Order: sequence, then structure tokens, then C-alpha cells
Amino acid sequence: MPKTILITGCSSGIGLHCALGLKKRGYRVFATARKKKDVQMLSKRGLESFQLDVDYTSSIRNAMKEIQKRTKRLDALFNNAGYSQVGAVEDIPRDAMRAQFETNVFGALELANAVIPLMRKQKSGRIIWNSSILGLVAMPMRGIYNASKFAMEGLVDTLRLELEGSGIQVSLIEPGPVRSKVRKNALPIFRRTIDKKNSVYQQTYRELEEKLKEEGPVAPFTLGPEAVLKKLIHALESPNPKARYYVTFPTYLFGFLRKVLPIRVLDFLLKRV
Ligand SMILES: NC(=O)c1ccc[n+]([C@@H]2O[C@H](COP(=O)([O-])OP(=O)(O)OC[C@H]3O[C@@H](n4cnc5c(N)ncnc54)[C@H](OP(=O)(O)O)[C@@H]3O)[C@@H](O)[C@H]2O)c1
Repeated sequence: MPKTILITGCSSGIGLHCALGLKKRGYRVFATARKKKDVQMLSKRGLESFQLDVDYTSSIRNAMKEIQKRTKRLDALFNNAGYSQVGAVEDIPRDAMRAQFETNVFGALELANAVIPLMRKQKSGRIIWNSSILGLVAMPMRGIYNASKFAMEGLVDTLRLELEGSGIQVSLIEPGPVRSKVRKNALPIFRRTIDKKNSVYQQTYRELEEKLKEEGPVAPFTLGPEAVLKKLIHALESPNPKARYYVTFPTYLFGFLRKVLPIRVLDFLLKRV
């Protein structure tokens, strides 16, 4: 029996690459996306696909029904869907705060809670969460995204304690810069949500917008999504999966520095990356 895995956010980037990579490795992959056209694209690429928008309980329920129609076992969930709300903390409207948490935190958690009973019955399962280097250290202009990934880190640390002995293992993946559509997707949200004209950060926002518009990597040490796939495979297949998987040099660097540097020195560095 091939192992089954449900992946969220497979329309592009890390989710798409991991879905294709795991299928090639022999997994039965339920590669989900929130738009119909992306479900069609995924099906055309030979993946089993259906719609799943993690912002909606109804969509999560439908996806669970779909899975139960197709299989009795679900070996793994990769909670990958997410987006990056950009903007200074003092400029984030409440709706944008909520939306960021709906997708990156509440959606991922509600989906995990939907698969846990199934995995408890099986006495096995792996839930892997796509967090971020920004779940470990902060960065200016990313405050609410930071908050969502810090929240994910806290929830998963708790889950790990609570699930002990259940046969279910949880792991976090901590990518630094990885090639994907994350910046392209962040741009319209940034434009829609942030009142740039009335902000003290007008100049910063102009520079930020230019960066978001750029195609291709803008940060040093950017890796391709295959770097995440490699860690995902370890988290899925190792008899002793790690609690945290670092991906990219910046994650290793800041993962270390945050433990050893005084906060003032760490802040000095983080303001400059
Ligand atoms: N790339 C990086 O540098 C990086 C670094 C650290 C962490 N991450 C994390 O990696 C994950 C994947 O992002 P990516 O870099 O691959 O970017 P991406 O190419 O923009 O992919 C994000 C995926 O999430 C989906 N998504 C967004 N909101 C959703 C919702 N409500 N329900 C279901 N799917 C939704 C998107 O679907 P649509 O196409 O419909 O919008 C897309 O498929 C995210 O959680 C991100 O925070 C990325």
C-alpha cells in the first residue's frame, strides 16, 4: 500500500514541488488547492486533486469527506498553505490581521484537528507544518506574518507534548528564502490592505513594493523548493523525525544566533537583512 499524504496549497511553490516529488517517490498524494483551475492543473499533472481552502470550515469538512471516500488511511498531512502579509505592525488593519491568522494559523490547526482522530485510530500519522525562519526570529515589515508563524511554533510545540504516545508525530519545517510565488502573491494583498499614503513608512513601502515586484530571488542564499522536499521526506520517513527542520543557510545562522546573542545585537543584525 502506498503511503497517503494530504498537502495544502499545491497551486505553486513549495506545495506543488513537494506534491510532485512525493508522487514520484511512490506516495499517494492528495494535492489540494483552493481554486478550481489549479485543481485542474494538478489533475493534468497526474496528481489526485480536489479543492481545499483552509480559510473555511466547510471546505475543510468537504476535503475530509473526499479523503474518506478515497482511502481508509491517511498517513500524513503537510500543512503548507500560507501567505505573507507585508507591512509595518502599526499599519496593519484588523481585517488583515484576522485574514493572516485565518490562513496561516487557524486553517492549519483546524485541518490538523480534523485529521488527528483518524490518525489516533490508526495509531500512527505525521503532521508536518511549513513554518518559517520568521517563526524563529522577527523582521521589520513582517510583523503579522511573524506573529502567525510564532503562533504556529507554539501550537506545534504543545501538540508534540499532547500527542506523545498516540503514534502521531509532528514536525516543523523552517525555510529561509525559497523560490516560489510568495512575493508575487504578497504584492496585491499589500496594495489592498496597507494605507501607504498615511504611513510614516512611505519610503520603505516604495522600496518594499519594488522588491515584491521583482521576479526571481532577491535574498542571498535562496534555495529551490527541493530543499524543503528533502526535509519533508525525512520528517515523513525517519523513525525519529525531528521537531524542527532548518532549511537554507539564513535559518541555520539565525537559529543559532538567536540562542547566543543578546537581543540588542540580534536586533542590530535583523534590521539589516
Ligand atoms: N518561499 C519562501 O521563501 C518561504 C519561506 C518560509 C516559509 N514559507 C512558507 O511556505 C508555505 C508555502 O509558500 P510558498 O513559498 O510555496 O508560496 P506560494 O508559491 O505563494 O504558495 C502558497 C500556496 O498557499 C496557498 N494558499 C494561500 N492561502 C490559502 C488558503 N486559504 N487555502 C488554501 N491554500 C492557500 C496558495 O494558493 P493560491 O495560489 O490560491 O493563492 C499557494 O498554493 C507558506 O506557508 C509560507 O509561509 C515560504
